[in-house]
Amino acid sequence: MNMLINTNLLDPMETASIDQLRQHQLDRLRWSLKHAYDNVPLYKQRFDSLGLHPDDLKSLEDLAKFPFTGKNDLRDNYPYGMFAVPMEDVVRLHASSGTTGKPTVVGYTQNDINTWANVVARSIRAAGGRRGDKVQISYGYGLFTGGLGAHYGAERLGCTVIPMSGGQTEKQVQLIRDFQPDIIMVTPSYMLNIADEIERQGLDPHKLALRLGIFGAEPWTAELRRAVEERMGITALDIYGLSEIMGPGVAMECAETKDGPTVWEDHFYPEIIDPVTGAVLPDGEYGELVFTSLSKEALPMIRYRTRDLTRLLPGTARPMRRIDKITGRSDDMLIIRGVNVFPTQIEEQVLKIKQLSENYEIHLYRNGNLDSMDVHVELKHELQGLDPDQQRLIGNELSKQIKTYIGISARVLIQPSHSLKRSEGKACHVYDKRTPV
Ligand code: DLL
Repeated sequence: MNMLINTNLLDPMETASIDQLRQHQLDRLRWSLKHAYDNVPLYKQRFDSLGLHPDDLKSLEDLAKFPFTGKNDLRDNYPYGMFAVPMEDVVRLHASSGTTGKPTVVGYTQNDINTWANVVARSIRAAGGRRGDKVQISYGYGLFTGGLGAHYGAERLGCTVIPMSGGQTEKQVQLIRDFQPDIIMVTPSYMLNIADEIERQGLDPHKLALRLGIFGAEPWTAELRRAVEERMGITALDIYGLSEIMGPGVAMECAETKDGPTVWEDHFYPEIIDPVTGAVLPDGEYGELVFTSLSKEALPMIRYRTRDLTRLLPGTARPMRRIDKITGRSDDMLIIRGVNVFPTQIEEQVLKIKQLSENYEIHLYRNGNLDSMDVHVELKHELQGLDPDQQRLIGNELSKQIKTYIGISARVLIQPSHSLKRSEGKACHVYDKRTPV
C-alpha cells in the first residue's frame, strides 16, 4: 500500500485484505443471486432452464456457471420488467439512449442511491478531492447518469457542488473563472471544447484554480491525458461506469498511481470473458468486461456483458483490482479492409503529432468493394495559416504513422482550425458512410 495515502480517510473495504474482500464478495454474491432469482422472472427462468439455483454458488469461481445478461434483456423487458423491488421502492430512474429505438431504463432504491453516492465520493477522494473542494459538474444532468451521479457523490464527500451540467460552453468558462472550482468532472472530449473556449476568451488555463479533472463516460487515451494535463495545468484521472451497473463510480483511477481505474470490487464483481466463447479469462488477459452487482436492490445485474474491452490488473493503490484503460467497445470496433480498428488507436497517432489539435474525425466510405478511410484533423490554433507544403508534410506524417502502427492506408485531410465539430458530452468520432453489404 502506498504510504502517501492517509488510510484513515478510506472506507474499511478499501484497505481490507484480499481474503476479507473475497469473503465479502462471496457473501454478497450469494445475496445478489438469490435476490435476482426470487424477484426477477427472467433470472428465475434462465437459472431454472440450466438447472441452476443460487445455492449452487459455493465459491466465486462458481459464478462462471451462471448465464450472462445483456442490453437486449433490458430492452426486451422495457421499461421495468427487470426491477426486483416494487415500484414504490424505486426513488430514481435513469436511462441511456442506445443507437436503436428504446432506451435502457435503470432504477434505484434509496439504498442504491446511497451506495452510489458513497462510491462516487470514494472515487473523488481517490482522485485527490477533499471536503471543501469546489467541484464543477459538467456531465449532463437528466436521464444520463453522469451529472446526478457525480453530484450526489461530490456532496457526500463534503465538496461544494457547482451543478453546471453539459453545454453552454461560454458559461462553463465564466463559472470556471468566477467560481474558481478546484475540480471539474466532465467528458474528456467536452474538456477539450471548454479548453478552446478558455483560450478564446484570452484566459491562461494555468492561472485558474482548477487542479483536477475527473474524466470519463467515453474512451480516451494516455496521449490525450498528457495533452489535456499540459494544456490545462491539471491532473487528469479516469472514472469509469455504466448505467446498467450504477453510473459513474464503478471504477476510479487513484491519484497516487495513475495506472488505470480501481474497480470498487466490494460492490461490483468484475470478470473478463472471451467475447466469442464466453469463457472466463485469467487476470491480465484482454477480453470483454462483465459485471455482477453485489449490493444493488432495484436492478440486480448478474454477469452483465458491458461490451467494453480491457483486462483486469492487480491492485496497486488499493488491494482491489484495476482495469486497464478501455480501448473501446466491441460495438465501436471498425473493420476496415478486414483490419480491426478502434477510434482510440487513431487518437493515439493524431496526438503524437505536436502540430495537430486533439480533435479528429474518422470518415469511412466504400469505393466499389473497397473500404476507404479519411481522417480529418486540425492544426493547433497558433499554427493557423501554416504554409500548405508544411501542412502536406504533417498530413503525410500522420498517414504514414497510421499505416505503420495500425496497418491501414488513410487519407489525412487537414481542416481549418476550429472547424471540426466539438463535443458537449460523449464525442462522436466516426462517420461511417459505407452502405452495409
Ligand atoms: O457513461 C456513466 C459515466 C458517466 C461514467 C460519467 C463516467 C463518467 P453510460 O451512458 O451507460 O454511462 O455509458 C457507459 O460508456 O460501457 C463505456 O463504453 C463508456 N465509458 C464510461 N466510462 C468510460 C471510461 C456512463 N472511463 C459506457 N473509459 C461504458 C472508457 C467509458 N469508456
